[in-house]
Amino acid sequence: MTTIVLYCRPGFEKECGAEIQEKAAYSEVFGYLKLTKNEGLVYFHLNDASQAEKLMSKLPLKRLIFARQWFATVTDEPVELPEYNRVEAIAEALGEEFHYNDMRVELLDTNEGKELSKFARKLSVPLRQSLRKSGTLAPQQKGEGSDRGAILHILFLSGQQALLGYSFAHNTSPYVMGIPRLKFPSASPSRSTLKLDEAFIHFIPKEEWSERLCSGLNAVDLGAAPGGWTYQLVRRGMMVKSIDNGPMAQSLMDTGQVKHYEEDGFKYRPFKKNNYWLVCDMIERPTRVANLMAQWIVDGDCQEAMFNLKLPVKGRYQQVMKDLQTIKDILGKNEVWYEMYAKHLYYDREEVTVHLRRLNRS
Ligand SMILES: C[S@@+](CC[C@H](N)C(=O)[O-])C[C@H]1O[C@@H](n2cnc3c(N)ncnc32)[C@H](O)[C@@H]1O
Repeated sequence: MTTIVLYCRPGFEKECGAEIQEKAAYSEVFGYLKLTKNEGLVYFHLNDASQAEKLMSKLPLKRLIFARQWFATVTDEPVELPEYNRVEAIAEALGEEFHYNDMRVELLDTNEGKELSKFARKLSVPLRQSLRKSGTLAPQQKGEGSDRGAILHILFLSGQQALLGYSFAHNTSPYVMGIPRLKFPSASPSRSTLKLDEAFIHFIPKEEWSERLCSGLNAVDLGAAPGGWTYQLVRRGMMVKSIDNGPMAQSLMDTGQVKHYEEDGFKYRPFKKNNYWLVCDMIERPTRVANLMAQWIVDGDCQEAMFNLKLPVKGRYQQVMKDLQTIKDILGKNEVWYEMYAKHLYYDREEVTVHLRRLNRS
């Protein structure tokens, strides 16, 4: 039996499961779910094992909101690891049929998982060496070709059991367990700064930063105080209009790049159409935020928007899908071309981050 294993934030297994089941069905791939609350893992057992490859290559991971990372299993059951010769047990279970371009050693995003991190680190060096020697794992490669072929995932469920699987390099997260580890910048006035930092890293390809996240662009930050998001825009050289009744950090005001408007973010609109970015972290009803963001894009008041949609206590997946549909309906009605992606990012909690970009008709 082949299983698609998905990583999500612990506590969001139900949403992650509902989403993969629904989106796999669009590709006529069906299966049943197994999940344990707060484990941060979802098992999607496929009815037809031969469809795993199709799903892993055709359904873009970036279209999944609640899954951080995924892989398809290569063995039916987790591999039992003996006290000694764990490397050999894994190599044997992998066999010689498949070859991988890279390898990820992964753990659960739980306290039990964290306790295994030293063990996994220690094992990954001899494991890598052994798999390279046997040809199962390709020699180290950089740059070109790194988005091709398959990635081997070794997920240690415990010190005695590992799940083995693969994802495709063109359709996987570049981060172990899909988690980018970002350093909190001490100059930022709030920890929320990490959310926008991660959002930019996740949604905007690095090779486009020099045009889309660069010095000289104008940005508006709704619900800006004390300034963690504004900080991310300022440090990229942008001029920022920060909207909030609360106070902004003096350190940001001192840069000369920030203008603070003590206004209601739902009423504020810029005089000129020279703002490239709109970012919004107002804690508000998600439907209200969704409508506002769509309207800014329709009116041409920004080219790209990055914003949070807060999740309700119940029916979280359904609510997000409804709010995204609201945005699609408004943009569709106004004949605006756009791209939109949403993700439950690592630094998000009870919200998802959405990136909306107006596209020019060519
Ligand atoms: C989560 S905090 C924002 C944190 C900020 N992004 C940071 O990184 O420092 C939410 C902010 O939204 C502001 N806010 C809520 N409703 C607002 C509204 N209608 N207009 C303007 N600001 C609003 C609050 O005053 C609060 O400062």
